[in-house]
Amino acid sequence: MSGNITFTIIKPTAVSQGYIGPILNKIHQGGFRISAMRMLWLTRGEAEHFYEVHKERPFYTDLVDFMTSGPIVVAILNKENAVEDYRKLIGATDPEKAEEGTIRKEFAKSMQENAVHGSDSDENANIESSFFFSGLQRF
Ligand code: CMP
Repeated sequence: MSGNITFTIIKPTAVSQGYIGPILNKIHQGGFRISAMRMLWLTRGEAEHFYEVHKERPFYTDLVDFMTSGPIVVAILNKENAVEDYRKLIGATDPEKAEEGTIRKEFAKSMQENAVHGSDSDENANIESSFFFSGLQRF
Protein backbone atom coordinates (compact mmCIF):
# COMPACT_ATOMS: atom_id res chain seq x y z
CA MET A 1 0.00 0.00 0.00
CA SER A 2 1.33 3.46 -0.84
CA GLY A 3 2.09 5.84 2.01
CA ASN A 4 0.95 9.35 2.70
CA ILE A 5 4.26 11.13 3.32
CA THR A 6 7.32 12.01 1.34
CA PHE A 7 10.43 13.98 2.24
CA THR A 8 11.93 16.83 0.24
CA ILE A 9 15.00 19.07 0.25
CA ILE A 10 15.18 22.42 -1.53
CA LYS A 11 18.86 22.33 -2.43
CA PRO A 12 21.50 25.10 -1.97
CA THR A 13 21.37 26.67 -5.45
CA ALA A 14 17.58 26.79 -5.49
CA VAL A 15 17.65 28.47 -2.05
CA SER A 16 20.33 31.02 -3.03
CA GLN A 17 18.52 31.85 -6.29
CA GLY A 18 15.37 32.77 -4.38
CA TYR A 19 13.27 29.78 -5.41
CA ILE A 20 12.01 28.69 -1.95
CA GLY A 21 8.71 30.55 -2.42
CA PRO A 22 8.07 29.45 -6.03
CA ILE A 23 8.88 25.81 -5.18
CA LEU A 24 6.63 25.84 -2.09
CA ASN A 25 3.89 27.29 -4.28
CA LYS A 26 4.24 24.37 -6.73
CA ILE A 27 4.10 21.95 -3.79
CA HIS A 28 0.91 23.64 -2.56
CA GLN A 29 -0.62 23.66 -6.05
CA GLY A 30 0.24 19.95 -6.30
CA GLY A 31 -2.07 19.24 -3.38
CA PHE A 32 0.55 18.49 -0.71
CA ARG A 33 0.26 19.60 2.92
CA ILE A 34 3.51 20.56 4.67
CA SER A 35 3.62 18.81 8.06
CA ALA A 36 7.20 19.78 9.01
CA MET A 37 9.71 22.29 7.63
CA ARG A 38 12.96 24.06 8.52
CA MET A 39 16.05 25.72 7.04
CA LEU A 40 19.50 24.45 7.94
CA TRP A 41 23.08 24.12 6.71
CA LEU A 42 24.22 20.48 6.53
CA THR A 43 27.55 19.46 8.04
CA ARG A 44 29.76 17.26 5.89
CA GLY A 45 29.04 14.28 8.14
CA GLU A 46 25.29 14.78 7.87
CA ALA A 47 25.43 15.06 4.05
CA GLU A 48 27.66 11.97 3.80
CA HIS A 49 25.22 10.04 5.97
CA PHE A 50 22.13 11.21 4.05
CA TYR A 51 23.64 10.22 0.69
CA GLU A 52 25.45 7.09 1.96
CA VAL A 53 23.58 4.93 -0.58
CA HIS A 54 25.52 6.78 -3.34
CA LYS A 55 28.93 6.37 -1.62
CA GLU A 56 30.42 4.29 -4.42
CA ARG A 57 29.12 6.52 -7.23
CA PRO A 58 31.59 8.80 -9.06
CA PHE A 59 29.53 11.90 -8.24
CA TYR A 60 29.39 11.26 -4.44
CA THR A 61 32.14 13.69 -3.31
CA ASP A 62 30.86 16.46 -5.62
CA LEU A 63 27.33 15.84 -4.36
CA VAL A 64 28.42 16.15 -0.72
CA ASP A 65 30.43 19.31 -1.57
CA PHE A 66 27.37 20.79 -3.24
CA MET A 67 24.90 19.85 -0.50
CA THR A 68 27.16 21.49 2.12
CA SER A 69 27.74 24.66 0.06
CA GLY A 70 24.86 26.64 1.58
CA PRO A 71 21.60 26.47 3.49
CA ILE A 72 18.81 24.11 2.43
CA VAL A 73 15.13 23.75 3.30
CA VAL A 74 13.88 20.33 4.43
CA ALA A 75 10.22 19.38 4.66
CA ILE A 76 7.79 16.50 5.09
CA LEU A 77 4.91 16.54 2.62
CA ASN A 78 1.58 14.79 3.17
CA LYS A 79 -0.75 13.53 0.47
CA GLU A 80 -2.23 10.21 -0.53
CA ASN A 81 0.33 8.40 -2.74
CA ALA A 82 2.87 11.07 -1.71
CA VAL A 83 6.12 9.48 -2.94
CA GLU A 84 4.91 8.74 -6.47
CA ASP A 85 2.93 11.96 -6.88
CA TYR A 86 5.84 14.10 -5.68
CA ARG A 87 8.26 12.37 -8.03
CA LYS A 88 5.88 13.24 -10.87
CA LEU A 89 5.72 16.85 -9.69
CA ILE A 90 9.52 17.25 -9.50
CA GLY A 91 10.34 15.48 -12.79
CA ALA A 92 13.41 13.50 -13.88
CA THR A 93 16.74 13.73 -12.00
CA ASP A 94 18.29 15.24 -15.12
CA PRO A 95 16.42 18.53 -15.68
CA GLU A 96 16.96 18.24 -19.43
CA LYS A 97 14.77 15.14 -19.34
CA ALA A 98 12.19 16.61 -16.96
CA GLU A 99 8.73 17.33 -18.33
CA GLU A 100 7.43 20.87 -18.85
CA GLY A 101 5.85 22.30 -15.73
CA THR A 102 7.83 20.12 -13.30
CA ILE A 103 9.87 21.69 -10.49
CA ARG A 104 13.19 20.50 -11.90
CA LYS A 105 12.34 21.69 -15.41
CA GLU A 106 11.64 25.17 -14.06
CA PHE A 107 14.22 25.54 -11.28
CA ALA A 108 17.12 23.07 -11.73
CA LYS A 109 20.51 24.07 -13.15
CA SER A 110 22.00 20.61 -13.81
CA MET A 111 21.83 16.93 -12.88
CA GLN A 112 23.61 17.67 -9.59
CA GLU A 113 22.09 21.07 -8.87
CA ASN A 114 18.64 19.73 -9.58
CA ALA A 115 16.70 22.07 -7.24
CA VAL A 116 15.00 19.45 -5.06
CA HIS A 117 15.29 15.98 -3.60
CA GLY A 118 12.28 13.67 -3.30
CA SER A 119 12.14 10.28 -1.54
CA ASP A 120 12.19 7.26 -3.86
CA SER A 121 10.12 4.89 -1.65
CA ASP A 122 7.82 4.88 1.37
CA GLU A 123 10.57 3.27 3.41
CA ASN A 124 13.07 6.00 2.52
CA ALA A 125 10.45 8.71 3.09
CA ASN A 126 10.18 7.50 6.69
CA ILE A 127 13.94 7.12 7.18
CA GLU A 128 14.69 10.56 5.68
CA SER A 129 11.89 12.30 7.60
CA SER A 130 13.12 10.83 10.89
CA PHE A 131 16.70 11.87 10.11
CA PHE A 132 15.66 15.55 10.11
CA PHE A 133 12.56 15.75 12.32
CA SER A 134 11.60 14.40 15.73
CA GLY A 135 8.00 13.47 16.46
CA LEU A 136 7.54 16.78 18.29
CA GLN A 137 8.50 18.70 15.13
CA ARG A 138 5.83 17.05 12.94
CA PHE A 139 2.30 18.41 12.75
P1 CMP B 1 18.63 13.44 -5.38
O1 CMP B 1 17.20 13.19 -5.70
O2 CMP B 1 18.92 14.32 -4.21
O3 CMP B 1 19.37 12.04 -5.14
C1 CMP B 1 20.74 11.84 -5.40
C2 CMP B 1 21.37 13.02 -6.05
O4 CMP B 1 22.61 12.75 -6.67
C3 CMP B 1 20.48 13.53 -7.17
O5 CMP B 1 19.33 14.11 -6.65
C4 CMP B 1 21.44 14.45 -7.91
O6 CMP B 1 21.60 15.70 -7.25
C5 CMP B 1 22.74 13.67 -7.77
N1 CMP B 1 23.02 12.86 -8.97
C6 CMP B 1 22.38 11.75 -9.38
N2 CMP B 1 22.93 11.28 -10.51
C7 CMP B 1 23.94 12.12 -10.81
C8 CMP B 1 24.90 12.16 -11.86
N3 CMP B 1 24.91 11.23 -12.82
N4 CMP B 1 25.79 13.15 -11.85
C9 CMP B 1 25.79 14.08 -10.87
N5 CMP B 1 24.90 14.09 -9.85
C10 CMP B 1 24.00 13.12 -9.83
